[in-house]
Parts: sequence; structure tokens; C-alpha cells
Amino acid sequence: MSSSAPIGVFDSGLGGISVVRQIVKDMPDEQVLYFGDSANAPYGTKTPEQVRALSFAIMERFVVQGVKAVVIACNTATSAAVNDLREQYDIPIIGMEPALKVACDRGDVPSDPHHIPQRVIVAATPLTLRERKFAKLMERFDSDNEIFKEPCPDLVEIVESGQLDNHQLVMDTLHHYFDRYDLNRIDSVVLGCTHFVFYRDYFRELLPDRAAIIDGNEGTVRHLRVVLESLGALAPEGAAGGVKLANSDPSERIAALSHSLLTR
Ligand code: DGL
Repeated sequence: MSSSAPIGVFDSGLGGISVVRQIVKDMPDEQVLYFGDSANAPYGTKTPEQVRALSFAIMERFVVQGVKAVVIACNTATSAAVNDLREQYDIPIIGMEPALKVACDRGDVPSDPHHIPQRVIVAATPLTLRERKFAKLMERFDSDNEIFKEPCPDLVEIVESGQLDNHQLVMDTLHHYFDRYDLNRIDSVVLGCTHFVFYRDYFRELLPDRAAIIDGNEGTVRHLRVVLESLGALAPEGAAGGVKLANSDPSERIAALSHSLLTR
């Protein structure tokens, strides 16, 4: 494996571009080949079998392109496909899962010997929240914390249809999902879908100041660095890093939207 080879990053559509932004920020020497599967988005309302088949097809593409690692910048594809992909391919594969641990660990305060139970909403796709992988994650934390699962498929559609700047639409949608909670008693909201990371400012507007907004992007990129470092596969310092965006939807609209999300 050549350290100057690119890293493949994929998502069901445009959400994974939020992860690419983090890679560019934290690992600027790396070359990234991004593939968004917008022609088949959303994944979150499909069956695990469908998402697995789509993920394998994207992986084949990356193999042909000679990537040195793959980041599944999609919690949904990770829950449906990461184990099977790892079995099939030798390339290091970094997956994503809702950052529930980060949210629950906020209850471990050094000045207090007892864990302070956290009230956490996990916003993700229906498939992520239904899958076994998430059930296992919940099991680790739900005896000491109160965890609420909130599937938000419309938040994926709003990004894909280029309506992220429609303030009224976005706030109405957030109220639709979250008004049932007493948000003053919530400690954090986990953005368990990479599309949702683009809504951070809207969530800030919705939530009281005391509630944290947590996503897994930084942790994922930290993990990517550790994996590449352990393999001696980090790009040489000062190498010309960069991003190439590709999408299964070849329209000019998606290309323009992808670029605007990358530089947002
Ligand atoms: N961005 C994806 C995730 O992180 C999935 C969105 C979808 O296609 O439903 O789960």
C-alpha cells in the first residue's frame, strides 16, 4: 500500500461531505476521493440487504481506484455493511456509529465519584436505530443513562434537495421531531447521521444552552489517523492533499451542491 494513495470516503449522498471537511481540516496532506450515492439516497429507509449491496458496489469502485483506506462516512451503511465489507476486503475500513459514548461520558465528572445519569437524544436514520449494532451500543449505556432514539429521515431529504438554507422549513422539521421532549431536561443530542452535522447551528437555535450537540466526525478522523499511522500509510508531510468529489447522480445541481457543502 502506497502512503501517497488516496483515501476513499463514501456516503449515501451528501452527508459524508461533513466528514471530508474534517479530514481536510485535520489531515490536510491527504488526498480524498469522495463518492456520494445521491442517486440511491436515502439509505436510512432501505433494507439492510439493499444498503449492503450498494456499499459493496461503491467499495469495488474504490478498489479499482487504488485507495489505501476507506471511510464509511455514513452511520447507516456502517451498521448494515461494515462487518461484511471487512470480511471481503483487506483494505482498512473505518466505520461510523452515533457518538453515544461521548455523550454518556459527560456524566463522569472528576469532582464527583458518581456517574451523573445523562439524558441523551440520538438523532439518526430509521435503519441505524433499528440495527443490531446500535442495540449493542445502547446496551452499554442505557442502564446508567436515559437514551431516546429519534429517527429523522426528513433531515436527510432536506440536504439532498438543496434546502438546507430554508430556515423556516428546517426549524419546522426540527420542531416536528423534537417538540415532544422537554428539551430543558436534555443533556445532549447526538447527531448520529452525517447529514445532520450540517444542521448544527439550527440545533443550537432549537436547544437550550445547557444541551450539548455531539457528532462523531472528529473522532472518526482521529481514528483514521491512528489506523494509517499504525500502517505507516500517512501521506508524507507537505504532500499536495486535496478532494475529488464524485456522485452517482451526475447532475450539475448535485455537483454544485456538493461543492457548496464542502466549502460551507
Ligand atoms: N448520512 C447517512 C448516515 O450517516 C445516511 C443518510 C440516508 O441516506 O438515510 O447515516
